[in-house]
Amino acid sequence: MSHLTGLFYMLPLLPDVSVAPSAREPPDACEISAELYDSLQADQDRARVRRFYGRDVRLARRGVLDVGAGTGRVTLVSLAQSRAPVHAVEPSRSMRSLLMTRLAALPVDVRARVTVHPRRLDEAVLHEVADVAVCHNTVACLRPAARRALWPPGADALVPGGVFLVQLPPDRMPRDEVTYLLPAQKVGRHEYAVRMVMPAAADRIRTRFDYWVRGGSGVLREYTETFWMWPASRAEVIGELLGSGFLPRPGRDDPAVPAVRLRRR
Ligand SMILES: C[S@@+](CC[C@H](N)C(=O)[O-])C[C@H]1O[C@@H](n2cnc3c(N)ncnc32)[C@H](O)[C@@H]1O
Repeated sequence: MSHLTGLFYMLPLLPDVSVAPSAREPPDACEISAELYDSLQADQDRARVRRFYGRDVRLARRGVLDVGAGTGRVTLVSLAQSRAPVHAVEPSRSMRSLLMTRLAALPVDVRARVTVHPRRLDEAVLHEVADVAVCHNTVACLRPAARRALWPPGADALVPGGVFLVQLPPDRMPRDEVTYLLPAQKVGRHEYAVRMVMPAAADRIRTRFDYWVRGGSGVLREYTETFWMWPASRAEVIGELLGSGFLPRPGRDDPAVPAVRLRRR
């Protein structure tokens, strides 16, 4: 056994490897961003995740469902703030790899509470596993049909009375091109940076991410990745949820993250 485990430490050359890709897996849209995602936005986002979802997650008993778990920000907060089981649904292999590494670093009893579903929510087949579901920073990048396809399996995954918190996409097209520069982050001798450029394009927003890594001798690596975002108003998204068995939850939710409750049968 010991000589076999040693094999994992070798880095084989590509021609010497044959990988049988799973027929179920589509190309990975997060391949570039996964490497830089946490370095560039984790700190800002961690506080937001606690503010948006902490109160509901602490009340979870049956389970927490993290839809589009990515590298695990909501999953980790849920494991820390509740004793309930957590279901992390993440179809992208590159994002899931980071999530799995994070989970591997947890104590065994905490890891035992989290199940990773390597699929889209509409493929995961989850029935009444949670009383709190969270969809953070995910809906904006889905075509309207894919966004609407989340709500029925979201309802299936919740127990009656369960709460679904959904971070809304932008509610309208930008009038002019918008550029954001996130604060550059130092990791050792290198500096990581990203600029987002967002022009409107017909009914959607082109979102170009320009990443670069700088060292003492200048720029070491550069990448550009383009995503699309589909705007939708709060009324539109809530209307879709109400059509899938949810009721409004009156209260003091953050305007960016409405909460709905699954109707009791
Ligand atoms: C921008 S990332 C956000 C990840 C995480 N929620 C965060 O905020 O750090 C969006 C994630 O949603 C996942 N995703 C896209 N479509 C999905 C679907 N239909 N069901 C579940 N996850 C999905 C993507 O693979 C991606 O990792």
